[in-house]
Amino acid sequence: MLERIIDSSAFVGGLDRSTYAVQRARARLKSAVRDGRAEFREGNVESIPFATASFTKICTVNTIYFWKSLDGGFAEIRRVLRPGGRIAIGFVTKEKMDRMGLPGDIFTSREPDEVVAALRSNGFNDVRLERPKPTTPWVIAVAS
Ligand SMILES: C[S@@+](CC[C@H](N)C(=O)[O-])C[C@H]1O[C@@H](n2cnc3c(N)ncnc32)[C@H](O)[C@@H]1O
Repeated sequence: MLERIIDSSAFVGGLDRSTYAVQRARARLKSAVRDGRAEFREGNVESIPFATASFTKICTVNTIYFWKSLDGGFAEIRRVLRPGGRIAIGFVTKEKMDRMGLPGDIFTSREPDEVVAALRSNGFNDVRLERPKPTTPWVIAVAS
């Protein structure tokens, strides 16, 4: 997805707590990094190493199960998002995750309503869930 986002953006900033993931992104997208169109930093969503109001759009996919808390992540995302900016969070629902037998000490499955409530309580508006079909096992929470 990064290639597509970079192609349609002035600048893309990426964050991952994994050194390996950050190195892979830098290597794979090195021409965009060299040209200043992308930058990948190592860090935690609860302490995002980008300045306040840096971004107009933020997206994160398949990450919220690993966050220490939704509030900690969404509060920081709100800080780095400009007023009026938008966020999209892709995740597999708790209903589906709980059938996958994933280790509970690594994965915290999330109810869509829990994600919506955490977005609202951290100051996001126009929160909605998008799901292609009622039976689709993943959802995207969108807010501004
Ligand atoms: C399952 S992978 C998803 C990768 C990609 N978005 C995808 O869907 O293929 C989860 C990624 O989130 C990162 N991650 C997990 N918790 C994080 C946190 N609290 N702060 C920053 N990165 C985190 C992990 O290091 C990992 O690279």
